[in-house]
Amino acid sequence: MNILVSGGVGFIGSHVVTELLNAGHNAIIVDDLSNSEITTIDRIKQITGKSNILFYQEDVTNEATMKDIFSKNQIDGIIHLAGYKSVGESVSKPLLYYQNNILATIILAKMCLEFNVANFVFSSSATVYGDKLSPLREDMVLGSTTNPYGESKVISEKILSDLVDAHPSLKVSILRYFNPVGAHSSGLIGEKPKGIPNNLMPYITMVASGQLDQLKIFGDDYDTVDGSGVRDYIHVVDLAKGHLVALEGLKQGLSIYNLGTGRGTSVFELVETFQRVNQVGIPYQIVERRPGDIATCYADTSKIKNELGWEAKLSIEDMVRDSWRFFAKQESD
Ligand code: UD1
Repeated sequence: MNILVSGGVGFIGSHVVTELLNAGHNAIIVDDLSNSEITTIDRIKQITGKSNILFYQEDVTNEATMKDIFSKNQIDGIIHLAGYKSVGESVSKPLLYYQNNILATIILAKMCLEFNVANFVFSSSATVYGDKLSPLREDMVLGSTTNPYGESKVISEKILSDLVDAHPSLKVSILRYFNPVGAHSSGLIGEKPKGIPNNLMPYITMVASGQLDQLKIFGDDYDTVDGSGVRDYIHVVDLAKGHLVALEGLKQGLSIYNLGTGRGTSVFELVETFQRVNQVGIPYQIVERRPGDIATCYADTSKIKNELGWEAKLSIEDMVRDSWRFFAKQESD
């Protein structure tokens, strides 16, 4: 199939495109490179040994351009990953987040109708569950989000749900990611945050490399196994394979799936595993809780396992090893 991947050059997108090519699909990437680098495309070609990628450096919210791309290509399905994703920035620039993330979803949904594309996979986030108690299940009533980034995901989900109600022949799958980390085992593609990272794993790698002095652990007094926050970290290659399975298993109407491992790992456990596997020290200090954080967040993964036969395979050890390998390789290149 010819699959249009919005945001296909980014951290998750590059791994999704890799899996698509490996499975014999063609990728048409639309990415404005606002948080990614063009060299990633050559790296995907190197990993897969395939070159059936068409790349448009364009903004998905530009409707005229998108119409042009859909007119020129026979597109069988869309995987929509493009979006701004920094929680902190979304609080200071709410309009930017609402405009970009919601408009992108609307425009791609319009393209589905105008160009008869029935297959649509959307990148959502476990953040839509708000403060609901884990394990989180897809049929739960959503919790309240604490920031415009999270709200933009809730609204995009609602738009897609209303769209399917109005056009029941569409096949839409919403994927709620837990905490994607790790990198491709080649060390060629991975997460390269611009500036000082907010998320835990990129922060740990920068401390491990000596570029940042120490990790700040946001609270050790949560009601968890050791007092630090517990999350469901999922290897980005597993996550990417989940997209392929969701795409190939699309069925009429709306389907929602968690993409997680179903296992929670605390901050202390992740730091300890990183140090042990990579033989590198991570100095840290305990600081105040971060506003908006919850104690525990992990997935109930039974739905996607039962319906599509997918489950995450890679371990926390794989995640810390691959994250560090990618980071170290970037530094030496
Ligand atoms: C965050 C976002 C979430 C988004 C996700 C994308 C918030 C409140 N949530 O999730 O909406 O979908 O990123 O990946 O920002 N931690 C530290 N020190 C750090 C960084 C993190 O102790 O320097 C802790 C956090 O308190 C948390 C865990 O590490 O317990 C994971 O944090 P993070 O990687 O930022 O992800 P989430 O907060 O789960």
